[in-house]
Order: sequence, then C-alpha cells, then structure tokens
Amino acid sequence: MSFVIPIGSGKGGVGKTIFTANLGIMLARSGKKTVLIDLDLGGSNLHTCLGIKNRNSGISSLINKQENSIEDLIFETDIDNLFLIPGDTLNPGTGNLPFFTKKKIIKQINQIDADFVLLDLGAGSTYNTVDFFLLSPYGIIFTSPETTSVLNAYSFIKTAVFRMLFRSFKPKSPEREIIYNFINIKLEGSGRSFAGDLINELTAHSYMSGQAAAEKIKEFHPWVIVNRVENRESIELGLKLQDITRKNIGIDLEFLGPLPEDREVQMSIFNRSPVVITNPASVYSKQLLVIANKLVSGEILPQPELYLDDEDLLKIED
Ligand SMILES: Nc1ncnc2c1ncn2[C@@H]1O[C@H](COP(=O)(O)OP(=O)(O)OP(=O)(O)O)[C@@H](O)[C@H]1O
Ligand SMILES: [Mg+2]
Repeated sequence: MSFVIPIGSGKGGVGKTIFTANLGIMLARSGKKTVLIDLDLGGSNLHTCLGIKNRNSGISSLINKQENSIEDLIFETDIDNLFLIPGDTLNPGTGNLPFFTKKKIIKQINQIDADFVLLDLGAGSTYNTVDFFLLSPYGIIFTSPETTSVLNAYSFIKTAVFRMLFRSFKPKSPEREIIYNFINIKLEGSGRSFAGDLINELTAHSYMSGQAAAEKIKEFHPWVIVNRVENRESIELGLKLQDITRKNIGIDLEFLGPLPEDREVQMSIFNRSPVVITNPASVYSKQLLVIANKLVSGEILPQPELYLDDEDLLKIED
C-alpha cells in the first residue's frame, strides 16, 4: 500500500504546487518510488514546477473517458523513482468532475503501487477537493502566514471533518441526518464546538454511533505547513491555527514544519527548474529536506473507510 499525501489549502497561491514538486524530487532521491498527481483540475501547473513540458495525457483523459486506467497515465520523469500524472492542460475545462469519475479516480489512486503518492490539489474547500483530501488521514494543509490564509485553512479543516464524519455513516442513515442538521441549522453562528456537541448528539441517538464518530476524529491526522515564514510571528499564527482546531473541532493538527520565504523559490520558477535541483543549499531546500526525512522515516498507516456515494453529493452539496 502506498502512502497517499494530499496537499490542500483554503486560500490559493500559498505554495502547494512548488512544495509538491520539490518534495517529490526529494522523496524520489531518497530511493522511494514517488508518484505526483496533478489534481488541480482546471488550473494544473505541476509539470511546470517540475520543469517538464506536458506532452502526456493526464487526469483529463480519464475524465473525458479517453483512458480507463490511472496506471496508464503515469509517466516516468528524468529523475529516478519520480513519476507524474499531469493535469489537464491538454484538455482544459475539466474542472467539473462527474461523480462516478471522481469515485473511480479515488479508487484507482488508492491502488497505485508506489511508496509515496502526492496529490497537488486546487485551492479551496469544494467537495471534490475535500474528497480528494480525505483519500488519506495524512493530508497536508498549506497556509501562508497571512491571517486570511490561516482562517481559510481553518474552514478547510472544518469542512473536511464534517465531510469525513458524514461519509463514515451509511447513506440515508439517521446519523447522516443528525450531522447534516448540525452543520446547517445549529453550528453556524452558534459558537458551539462540534467536537463535543455533535458527538453528544450522535451518542444520544446511539452510543455506538457517538463512539464511531469520536474514533474517526481520533484517526484523522492532518498536518499543517506554514509557508513563506519570515519571522517568529508567522510561526505563532500556525500555532494559533493548531489551538483553535483542537478547541473547536477536536483535531490535533501536527506541525510538519515551517518553510521559509526564499527568493530562490521565485528564481527557480523563472528558470523553470526546481529549487532543490538548482539550489540545494538554499534555506527552502534545506528545510524541505527536514520534512522529507520526517516522511521517509514514518510508518505507513491504514486508510480510514469512508462511504462515497451519490446520495452524499445530492444532499450535502447544495
Ligand atoms: N517559500 C517561498 N518563498 C518565496 N516565494 C514562494 C514560496 N513558496 C511559494 N512562493 C511563491 O508563491 C507562488 C505560488 O506558488 P504555488 O503555485 O506553488 O501556489 P499554489 O498554492 O499551488 O497556488 P494555487 O492555489 O493557485 O494552485 C510561486 O509562484 C512563488 O512565487
Ligand atoms: Mg497549485
């Protein structure tokens, strides 16, 4: 089983794609078979951050039904152990994802034979993006040190946790009804914490359901990375995010590390060559190596079981 790491953010332009490209290179260089997937449908540019011209079909051909298997879309890059499934630059306009295609993509990503599979997601918490984020309990939430970006990261986590809980109960179940009502009627503006209150409501319905929801929350271990850090205050914003997420949602966000603001990153984009290749001594590259080492030394953990069906979308997406 591969270690799937989705990389999401509430706000756009915070550095996810550059991170995915450079982290992928580092993991591959440490001998780990790594597959990068550009899932920023409608805005894909992972190949550019890798310095690759996109001549291969990507995820779009699965969406347009020109291809049937994700394995056939994986192509080998010039870097040993590094593979890429590009996005949709060849076929723009695939931002709209039919439900069954999403389900197929999710299933096939989980079956990819590799050590690491990194998913570069589009910004924001639409349900398609959140469903890709929930492919693994170990997604990375990316934020810049700006307050708006941190607040959007918080909303992203909140949406992801609701969606995770909703999907962990069967379609048409009373538990889904309780969660749905909690989100739409009770939570907004009420200042109530759902870690405790939602679980209490589920427990009042059935002790087992309350336990199951509490268990799901415990299994969910998103990481956070604060990028473009320049000073101590930037890191403190990250700590605040950890704090409110723990208090309000009951989730322990693990701080995977800060990444520094580094002009070399911008230069690397200008030169169309990843910074860890052109400038391994840069502060960004060095800090990224610390993160890559953390991942390489970690254990592969089981994926949570989530239900994914039509009914979710009909109900929760309006
Ligand atoms: N650590 C850094 N230091 C300096 N500049 C950075 C750093 N990280 C990212 N950037 C800048 O931020 C820009 C956006 O990065 P990137 O495209 O990776 O963001 P993104 O989160 O993938 O955006 P989107 O949400 O649009 O997909 C880059 O072009 C680069 O100029
Ligand atoms: Mg991006």
